[in-house]
Amino acid sequence: MARRKKMKILHAVSEVVPFLATGGMGQVAGALAASLAENNKSLDVRVISPLYARFRDKYEPQMNFLGACEVSLAWRTCYAGIFELVQEGVTYYFVDNRQYFDRENAYGYVDDGERFAFFSKAVFAAMEITKFFPDVIHTHDWQTALVPIYLKTHYGYTYGDMRTVFTIHNMEYQGQMPPFILHDVFELSKKDERLVWYNDCINLMKGAIVCADKVTTVSPTYAGEIQIDGGYGLEPIIRENSYKLSGIINGIDTKLYNPETDPLLGRYTYSASDIKGKKTNKKKLQALFNLPSAPRKMLICVVSRLVSHKGIDLITYMFDELIKMDVQFLLLGTGDHSYELFFEDKAIRYPDKVAVSIAYNPEVAGKIFAGSDVLLMPSCCEPCGLAQMIACRYGTIPIVRNTGGLSDTICDCRWGDGHGFVFDDYNVRDFMEAVYCAYNLYTNHEDDWNNLMKKAMSLDFGWQKSAKAYSNLYRELEI
Ligand code: GLC
Repeated sequence: MARRKKMKILHAVSEVVPFLATGGMGQVAGALAASLAENNKSLDVRVISPLYARFRDKYEPQMNFLGACEVSLAWRTCYAGIFELVQEGVTYYFVDNRQYFDRENAYGYVDDGERFAFFSKAVFAAMEITKFFPDVIHTHDWQTALVPIYLKTHYGYTYGDMRTVFTIHNMEYQGQMPPFILHDVFELSKKDERLVWYNDCINLMKGAIVCADKVTTVSPTYAGEIQIDGGYGLEPIIRENSYKLSGIINGIDTKLYNPETDPLLGRYTYSASDIKGKKTNKKKLQALFNLPSAPRKMLICVVSRLVSHKGIDLITYMFDELIKMDVQFLLLGTGDHSYELFFEDKAIRYPDKVAVSIAYNPEVAGKIFAGSDVLLMPSCCEPCGLAQMIACRYGTIPIVRNTGGLSDTICDCRWGDGHGFVFDDYNVRDFMEAVYCAYNLYTNHEDDWNNLMKKAMSLDFGWQKSAKAYSNLYRELEI
């Protein structure tokens, strides 16, 4: 049988671990690329991302400078330096432009549209330097939505054989921009503006959905929801393009998130067959957050961005009820200032029961997953969610709402062979009922709880199956 040609895949993404992750997308892009590179020898997988100040000093000494090119954005001509770094079998390319990327944060600037239009064009310009001409460019969310759009409008003549996959990590952020940007920055002609025009403004996600050859999102349930009422206004566009849409569940990096080997746990690693170490981790966590040492008090944690779609309103609304139980509560996250103030205030009011850290800190997050008993994740909508899977790995039982990827990863232990608590409707009654059930099981049925932990820890949340699904999808695009 003739051997299949190695397919070349380029992930174009605005953040990627181990270099930068401000949220789930960066983690997913890094872990997916690594898993594809490791397990699918028929693919040559590389990644291109901006070179941000946040990691420049740490990694630049290990990078190779491949060359520089010019990228034009309407009347601007911008410098793009291209660097290369091979890390654990994956080749990463970085696009350097200090004006655009030497900033404190990755996003949140008035010229974000211009910054990521520059990056999207640099993805093509870089090919002439790297000499890596992919069969498929896989792009992620609005920041790289212009890649499939530009392939149709600007680069079709040169790179007409390339195909594109666009992955939606979150429909909420669509890259909506004011109209002036269309000609003055994006350089889209009158004829092409219909591609990105939607509801009286520019909508980059809409453009990518229309232009990409395949559209994916990060769980099968979410793929259904965004066609009905979870599409933040883009439902008709998703439905029109549903023939090329699929939902592929994210995995987590099970080598990294492994309580048996995790260096964050020091000497107190543990596993499903020996969960003793988890108790020590709980004790250390209580000490870290100045909470009284209480081995049999249910320690509830929240590790989340503090934004409303994460279901934070359910928690704030019921907070005083929740804390009436004999529990401890720990929160790590940043987000809307009103939520941050709310939780800081509760930590002052209940110093023996509540501890709060307003920060994004993966190390502390790791310790919280290892030392807590329960994770609250009552999201109003959740494309996939990673925290619930990480929590399971560490024997921390998730309480989640039945939505998006939470539905696809967590089964309720009350109605069968589950490993978490799942409630259906976004209301405080159903939410609290799930919390009370967990509290009752934890407090009064220790053996059953331990079995639940062991079950959660034994589940396979690895990338292998999903990486295979992506690799099949790429093959469908083979010419
Ligand atoms: C976004 C989504 C989250 C998903 C992540 C990775 O952050 O909100 O649900 O897990 O992307 O795909």
